[in-house]
Amino acid sequence: MSNKQVLLKSRPHGWPTADNFEVSEGNVPEPAAGQIVIETAYMSVDPYMRGRMNDVKSYVPPFQIGAPLQGGIVGKVIASNDGPFKEGTYVVGMGDWANYTVTDGAGYNAVDPDLAPLSYYLGILGMPGMTAYVGLKGVAEMKEGENLFVSAASGAVGQVVGQIGKNMGCHVAGSAGTDDKVAYLKDELGFDAAFNYKTEDVYKAVAATNPKGIDVYFENVGGPVLEAVISNLRMNARVALCGMISMYNSTLDDMPAGPRNMAILVGRSVRMQGFIVSNYPELCREWVGIGAGWLKEGKMQYRESVAEGLENAPQAFIDMLGGKNFGKQVVKLSDV
Ligand SMILES: NC(=O)c1ccc[n+]([C@@H]2O[C@H](COP(=O)([O-])OP(=O)(O)OC[C@H]3O[C@@H](n4cnc5c(N)ncnc54)[C@H](OP(=O)(O)O)[C@@H]3O)[C@@H](O)[C@H]2O)c1
Repeated sequence: MSNKQVLLKSRPHGWPTADNFEVSEGNVPEPAAGQIVIETAYMSVDPYMRGRMNDVKSYVPPFQIGAPLQGGIVGKVIASNDGPFKEGTYVVGMGDWANYTVTDGAGYNAVDPDLAPLSYYLGILGMPGMTAYVGLKGVAEMKEGENLFVSAASGAVGQVVGQIGKNMGCHVAGSAGTDDKVAYLKDELGFDAAFNYKTEDVYKAVAATNPKGIDVYFENVGGPVLEAVISNLRMNARVALCGMISMYNSTLDDMPAGPRNMAILVGRSVRMQGFIVSNYPELCREWVGIGAGWLKEGKMQYRESVAEGLENAPQAFIDMLGGKNFGKQVVKLSDV
């Protein structure tokens, strides 16, 4: 059986380009005792993968040159050599950027394709949805009726953050990078306010869209939005530091200086805390039940950008870093 893989060819300096990736073709290895073979239905395209292209120590090890990239995958077990899942089981976990992954199944979970579309297990019912819940509940400890602001609000994580906020009776505002995304937030997801951070004065727009100030900031981007938010934080506000995508392609030479107004955090007794979703396994499990329930009840919706075919995965990744995705970016490989 032929297997295509996306390999890391070279490490980017600054923005990645198509030249940093290479598609190779080989055979699917036979599963050894205890292993399974997964045919990939969808691969996840995530911002943290940019960090893994650098040769630096982090909470996940760097990708190796000449080896397949790895990320979230969902697919079907098509062979099992006494492995942990039976043939025909649908599973989600970390796999190769490839048509097939051979694994001992560690870290994989079975999923129900009748409960939600398979791709949702990489999005709203997967790592991004869990991230939204963990950041709001486990880190920011958001309470009903508070004032919530989220950046990259139409993205994989952001759209879940905002909808959780609405379901908790919060005032929800957000920022995004196109007028279409802003309209989606207001007209379809029911955000109270939203703005385009590329075309509006960010300081004025944050103040205007958060008239009572901000109790909880769900931080996805860093840069000018973070600074404007700091000026609008209320007493005892919490900032859940989820990511800072505006800096992921910066090098030390062109890294901007940090927010100039950090002293505000002192007087307003603000708590700012970073987090990694995988450190909150119980909340992650809790979210899958809540999220699936809200989807069924029509209290939540989820937008995706679907690229087709393994060869198009590198471009989908580069485009996502530049904001061309609208919703959760996935790559569809098969109809298993
Ligand atoms: N801590 C964790 O465990 C964890 C887990 C998952 C994700 N994250 C982080 O959460 C954030 C969102 O991830 P996601 O998967 O939901 O991605 P996403 O929002 O679906 O896609 C990334 C988005 O970032 C925005 N963006 C790109 N460059 C930007 C810039 N310079 N300034 C402002 N926005 C910019 C773009 O949207 P616009 O069109 O709106 O610019 C782009 O669509 C990322 O920072 C990611 O690293 C953290």
